[in-house]
Order: sequence, then structure tokens, then C-alpha cells
Amino acid sequence: MDKKPFYITTPIYYPSANLHIGHSYCTVATDVMARFKRLQGYDVMFLTGTDEHGQKIQDKAAEAGVTPQEFVDNIVAGIKDLWKLMNISYDRFIRTTDEYHVEAVQKMFEKMKAKGDIYKSVYKGKYCKPCESFWTETQLVDGKCPDCGRPVVDAEEEAYFFKQSKYVDQIIKLYEENPDWLQPASRAKEMMNNFIKPGLEDTCVSRTTFDWGVPVTSDPKHVVYVWLDALTNYITALGYGNEKYDDFERFWPADVHFVGKEIVRFHSILWPAMLMSLELPLPKKVYGHGWLLLEGGKMSKSKGNVVDPVFLCERYGVDTLRYFLLREFPFGSDGVFSNEALINRINADLANDLGNLVSRTVSMVEKYFDGTLPAEQTADPMDEELIQMASGLRAVYEEQMESYAFQNALIEVFKVISRANKYIDETAPWILAKDEANKPRLARVMYNLLETIRIGATLLTPFIPDSAEKIRAQIGAASELFTWESVAEYGQLPANVTVCKGAALFPRIDMKKELDFLDKHQEKQKKEAEKAAKKAEKKAKEEELANVVIAIDDFAKVSLKTAEVVACEPVKKSDKLLCLQLKLGEEKRQVVSGIAEYYKPEDLIGKTVILVANLKPAKLRGVESQGMILAADAPDGVKVIFVDGVPSGCKIR
Ligand code: ME8
Repeated sequence: MDKKPFYITTPIYYPSANLHIGHSYCTVATDVMARFKRLQGYDVMFLTGTDEHGQKIQDKAAEAGVTPQEFVDNIVAGIKDLWKLMNISYDRFIRTTDEYHVEAVQKMFEKMKAKGDIYKSVYKGKYCKPCESFWTETQLVDGKCPDCGRPVVDAEEEAYFFKQSKYVDQIIKLYEENPDWLQPASRAKEMMNNFIKPGLEDTCVSRTTFDWGVPVTSDPKHVVYVWLDALTNYITALGYGNEKYDDFERFWPADVHFVGKEIVRFHSILWPAMLMSLELPLPKKVYGHGWLLLEGGKMSKSKGNVVDPVFLCERYGVDTLRYFLLREFPFGSDGVFSNEALINRINADLANDLGNLVSRTVSMVEKYFDGTLPAEQTADPMDEELIQMASGLRAVYEEQMESYAFQNALIEVFKVISRANKYIDETAPWILAKDEANKPRLARVMYNLLETIRIGATLLTPFIPDSAEKIRAQIGAASELFTWESVAEYGQLPANVTVCKGAALFPRIDMKKELDFLDKHQEKQKKEAEKAAKKAEKKAKEEELANVVIAIDDFAKVSLKTAEVVACEPVKKSDKLLCLQLKLGEEKRQVVSGIAEYYKPEDLIGKTVILVANLKPAKLRGVESQGMILAADAPDGVKVIFVDGVPSGCKIR
């Protein structure tokens, strides 16, 4: 039978060198959903990618001294590595700089323009540069961007506008007729009350103040507004408006767009309005998930509190992190990430419940039956409760998964896992094992445990794919018994199954030791972030100063003189400082300079340097410095300016 299509997307990420655990959250959830649908037998298209245009990227590239394309190429490679590490099974990765996408965006813009839905006017208002969002005065909160709380700037320029207002009635109808179109329901209510009902304004969809974007074909001094460019990725990646792919008919409309709560507005108002203008069907659902927060607030690199997914995966394992993210927090709400919660989850659910169940069961089958169960087995009414729970698990799990309640789906699986652990205590296999006559009963107990593990682990596959596979191998289940169909019914494992013990799946973590370690690690990271911030601040200041124009009188205030280095030695307890004794004609001076990484004292003795002679004296590491010698910041390090051959004490002007 032909498989049914299922199309699911993540947002496309801004290329940021440090994607944090919050970014991984949405991608992991999408991956779990995609794997679940594949398990159910759907033909899944899972799309993710990167949103690479806009002023912010252009500015960052300039800061880094590279072209915007070089800048994004480098970061996108890192993002792909992260998804590989986290076992993200995307089917397609779109970059908004891909030629086929650019071409399609241009065509769509022209189509909407020809229709009169995009028109030229003058944009006057407020712009939030970090969010790349335009706002009207009334939308600001305390005069600041309502999304990120940062200052906005005045903006006035010729721009194209999209007639969003034309579609307001259709959008109201969409919400009213499809109460589940945007979930959770609270977000739909928020959109309706805060944005749609007060009236939709036409939205600015082009910019002329920078050029890192998709040029408007009929008016190339304009580039297309990043959100218009970005949202269309969901259809261009299927081949809409381009020849690169031919999947639009099969996969559009999308079954669901997963997005973070702050970008719900774009996906649930602008995006449907654009699709209405393009006369295309709307996605079947938009799901706005919550944010992962830290105790101090939102994750942010500038706050130095970014939680690095690479570090967490390497330390605790990819599956562990994937499980934690979806088990700990309800998908639609915000959640507070903490190390303690992570370790608790690992210990309680993965090590104690699941890991222990698998390891105890497999060990007992090896110990009591040399690894292979006998076919002769005796059932008992006390088995019924466990069997019923395991038999019914697929249905309750499915119901939760279909409504994106990942947390509840996991709770259901773990109820059965806990029940199986309790079943071990109730049946006391170690007592049964004492009497040879009980072997058929003992075999049935083991079988029930293996069969429960098989069903549970199959349903955990979307969440913890590698570990589920390891469990499959340990309980000796063939791949065909790890499928959606095979977990509909209890009793699929052959009675004489052979197990194969493996390494512990989820080792327990010593909470206290681990928290101590993490505290130290975080302290180190915080210091590094502070150091980097200081360095960036210094650089920015230097750049600012480089642009300052001064009058000749100001320059005349600086007294520069040639000076001969007569002695030089390292400053004690410092790797960076050298203390130089200088001669300026008859005068003597002592100067401390941060050049020890680049020069040895003997390289300097006898050389003539340039001294800023009227600097206020300062103490560096307790040593007085009476001035500063000039040096250049060359690409390969600091170079002191030598003026050998010029007598010491000469004024420089
Ligand atoms: O918004 N917790 O990109 P982005 C949970 N390019 N989710 C978080 C999070 C956190 N702490 N921080 C960020 C963009 N996210 C646009 C999307 S789509 C056509 C264009 C989520 O890289 C955020 O909510 O800033 C968003 O869904 C996603 O990461 C990408 O954010």
C-alpha cells in the first residue's frame, strides 16, 4: 500500500555560532515526531534549515572581517554538525541563500506585486535591529521592542508593503472555524486578542538600507524583508517556484509547523496571509512550543548563561538529553532548565527504571536459563495486569503523541516500565529459581518482562533511537518485532528467545559530585564569557577611537620622545609584562610594557623606541610605569616600533 505523506518543519535558525539547548529543543521535538510518524508507516518529509539573510548577519560578517556568505557558510557547517551529533534525522536542509530558494522568493514577490497585494509606499516607524522586526509606536512596550525588550530605532524609507489587512476577515474565519489550527489554544487566543482583532496593519516587506538579502527583481535596490524570505522556505524546499525539487504536490500543505512561542505571530498571521495571497492551501497546523529558561531568565550568550548542547551530549549522552528535554517539560509551556533536574531524571527514569529493568531481566535470563528461555512456560493470573498494560500501551501512547503531548506519552511508557519492575518484586524470580519444578513458571515471568520491554522500547525509539536499538539487541528481538504493527499485540517474541547482555545503558550519576563538577565548569565558562565580552568591548572602543577626528592641538598634547632601552627584565609573577629602563638624553625612566609574549629582554636592550612621555604614571603589578612605548598590532603579533639610529631624547612630532 502506498504510504501516506507527512510533512513537518522546524523554524529555520539564524546562523549563530552558539546554538544553545533551547534551539535544540524544537529540533529534537520535531525529530521525535518525524521518527514517530515513520514508525507508524508514513512517508515523512522533515525539513529544517537556516535563515541567512538580513542586516544582522551583514553586520556580524563585517565585524568578523569576512563576506556574509563566508560568515554563514562557516556557521551552517557547525549547525549541521550539531544536528548530526544529536541524531536529528532531517530529510531536507534548506538555506535561504540556496539559489533555488532565492529564485522562488523573487517569483513570489513579483506575483503578489502584480496582484496588487504588494505595493510601494514610505515606511515610517520603529525597527528592532536584533529581531529584524518593524513596529508601530503603539506596539512598543515601554518604548522598546515588545519581543526582546531592546531599544528600537526610528526608520523612514521607501518600501514595499504587503496588504495583510486585506486578509483579516479570512484569518478570523480560519481561527474561528479551526480552533485547533494554532496550538496550544492559549496562543490562538493571544494572537486573536492582541493582534488580529485590533486590526492588522499592512506590513513592510522590503528594505533599502542594506543589501544582504533577496533582491526584488523589478526594483533591485530593495531586498525582500527577511520574514517574507524566511517563511516561504516551507514551500520552496518542496520545489514551489523552482525546478530543484518536485515534492510540492505530495507534501503541501504541511501537517505541522513547530515553532517557538515568540515567532508564532509570524507563522499564524503573516504566513497564512501570504499563502492566501498566493492562493495556496494553508498548513494544517501550527504548534507554538514554550521556551527553555534558566533560573536567571532566558538563555542568552550575552548573559553568559548559554547551555551548550555539545557539552551536555558529550557528558551525558545524546539519548539522555533528548529524553530529558521532552520528559521534563510540557511541550506547550515554558520550562526551567537545571542541572539538578537533568541528573534527577537520568537517575530516576533512565538508570533506575528503564536501565535497571533491562539489566535485571537480561541478567536473570542468562543466570537461570543460560540466555535462552525454554518453550515450556506456565502463566499465572497475577501476570494479567502487566500484560494488559503492555498490550494497551500503543493506543494510549499514540493518543498522546498525536496531540504533541510528548511528556504524557513518555509518562505512559514509564508507567508500564515501573509496573514491570514491581512485577519482578511480586514474582520474586530468585525464589522461583531455587526449585527446579518452578522453571516453567520462572520462564513465563522472564518472558513477560522481555515482552514488556520490547513494547516499551519500541515506543521509545523516536525519543532514544540508539538506546532503543541497544535494548532490542539485548532482549534478542528481531527487527521485525520492533515495529509499530508488532507492538499492537502482546506475545510476539518467540517463547524460546535468546538474550544477549550488553553494557549498562544509563549509568547512575553521583548527584553531589556531579553538581560540584558542573558548578566549577560553569564558573569557568562564565569567566571565559566575561573575558570575551571585555575583549569585544575593548575592540569596539578601539574601532570607535579609530574613527575619531582630532584637532592638531589635541595631538600636540601628546609628548612623544625617542628613548634607548638600557636594561630590561620580566616583571615578577607576570607572563605578560616586561620592565624597561629607558634613557632619554640625560633623563631616566622606568616603563612597564605588556610585550613579554613577543620579546625577550635581550631583544630590546640597546634598541631605540618611542615613548609617550607625558602619561600619568601608573602601577602595573606593583611596579611603577612612567610612560608607554609604542607598538603596532600586526597580524602575527605585537611589534615594537624601533627607531634605531635616532639619538635618544628627541621630540617626535
Ligand atoms: O526565530 N527555548 O530563528 P532563531 C526554546 N530565523 N526555544 C528557543 C529558545 C529557548 N530558550 N531560544 C530560541 C528565528 N528558541 C527565525 C525563524 S522560521 C521561518 C524563521 C527557538 O534562530 C525559537 O523560539 O532565533 C525559534 O523557534 C527557534 O529557536 C529559532 O530561533
